[in-house]
Amino acid sequence: MIESITNPQQNTLVKVSVDSPGADSDTLDCETVSPSDPCAVVIMGATGDLTARKLIPSLFHMYQNDRLPEAFAVIGSGRTQLDDEAFRDKLASDMESAGLTDRSAWAKFSKRIHYQPVGYDDLESFNNLAQRLEALDHQHHTAGNRLFYLALPPKLYAPVAQLTGKSGLGIEKANGNGWSRLVVEKPFGRDLDTAIDLDRSIHEYFGEHQVFRIDHYLAKETVQNVLMFRFANALFEPVWNRRYVNQVEITAVETLGVEHRAGYYEQSGVLRDMFQNHMMQLLALTAMEPPSAFEDNLVRDERVKVFRALRPFEVDRLQDRLVLGQYAAGTIDGKSVPAYRDEPGVDPQSLTPTFARMKVFIDNWRWQGVPFYLTSGKRLAQKITQISIHFKQIPHSMFRDVIGPGISANHLILGIYPDEKITLTFQTKLPGARVCLRSVTMDFHYYQGDQQPVLDAYEKVLLDCMLGDHMLFWRQDAVEQCWSFLTPILAECETCGDRQSILHSYPAGSSGPAERTRLDSDG
Ligand code: BG6
Repeated sequence: MIESITNPQQNTLVKVSVDSPGADSDTLDCETVSPSDPCAVVIMGATGDLTARKLIPSLFHMYQNDRLPEAFAVIGSGRTQLDDEAFRDKLASDMESAGLTDRSAWAKFSKRIHYQPVGYDDLESFNNLAQRLEALDHQHHTAGNRLFYLALPPKLYAPVAQLTGKSGLGIEKANGNGWSRLVVEKPFGRDLDTAIDLDRSIHEYFGEHQVFRIDHYLAKETVQNVLMFRFANALFEPVWNRRYVNQVEITAVETLGVEHRAGYYEQSGVLRDMFQNHMMQLLALTAMEPPSAFEDNLVRDERVKVFRALRPFEVDRLQDRLVLGQYAAGTIDGKSVPAYRDEPGVDPQSLTPTFARMKVFIDNWRWQGVPFYLTSGKRLAQKITQISIHFKQIPHSMFRDVIGPGISANHLILGIYPDEKITLTFQTKLPGARVCLRSVTMDFHYYQGDQQPVLDAYEKVLLDCMLGDHMLFWRQDAVEQCWSFLTPILAECETCGDRQSILHSYPAGSSGPAERTRLDSDG
């Protein structure tokens, strides 16, 4: 039973006392610190979809839950010519369509919202933005602290970062007040070279400590919990290696199709959209070594070591390690849905993969020889995100004469979606006179005995940027390691003579192309 949960105040420690029935009472110190620094959140690309769908609802929710600093302001910027009132009206109508209920809180929140138009090739307009921010700092007491969020198409990241820098907005004051941070959404480039170029442009004006490269998967509660589960329990870590683990399956599949994002998705496909970021981070959290302390650079060092140890693919034998697919027409939840090639904005001859299953090996002491299967795709039968650890069979069955040879191996699932849970499957005796075994599952639901997530992934990301905490963000060396692994694979997939034949069609609403099981054999 939850005894007390105090709403976090600025810089206070929240104590949560949990009494589990039948267990000893436990007192946990949950350090939940609200951002103490006043700040202005500057959204570049403020009339776009991301602002309306994620950023403003998240900031508003944080405001409602006292998670924003007392002194804050939101400044939208973009090419559209709007004034403050017109921008607030647009956001209010977006919020209404999404089901806004607390209109009085919105009225107060929206007084902190402003708009300043810029041109993405116009330094003068960025100088004007700098002056406006100066004035708004005085109005809202935001102390010159600014978070620049690039909610823009990726091709604008470099030019906008440059203009922001040229207008002096990247300069920080020495005493910690007057910080300037740049938040970048994936994709960070489209291959190794473009990722290095983008980074170079950003670093002309921003230091690495100022750059926050988002991966919203890392901000999911249950994804963060992977490290707690592994490294706060003595029980699992000793068997978390090649001696006990047969294989690992990391799955992030969804029912959604490409929706209105054909322009972006046609250029990226599933490998850039899901593998270069979310799948790699899930892999890193599952496979990494324990850092000596839970500090952002130490944790990120360990994640990057996993990427460094990825065994490169033999590109002339890609088929041994990779299955690609693209959805055809089908049925999802009883509704007919079109083929990928018939989606608006998609080339009718498109060879963009919407499904991939990849078998990777990590060449280090712990994981030598253990296959990690990474699967992601659109328009599949269900939306599921999970990490499954399949343990080895018992070495010898003393029950073989009684119940035959087959005893199922233990299996641990770290569920991320839809069930945020941990389940462990093991064997027990089936009650009765005969000797029979049954598989049983021990279930822990993540929110059991606690409340539902206090912060969604975007809120967590925004909060950490305001706090300057890099733990859940990509560091450039990790970006480059992952691109070093994926770039030759992408190059082969995109230039080989038989692109059509390596892309397997699957009906929407299915489990993916039949060929997906091809990788399952040993080797
Ligand atoms: C995004 C991808 O990063 O993640 C989308 O661009 C994908 O294509 C989405 O649908 C999945 O995220 P989630 O949190 O719904 O699993």
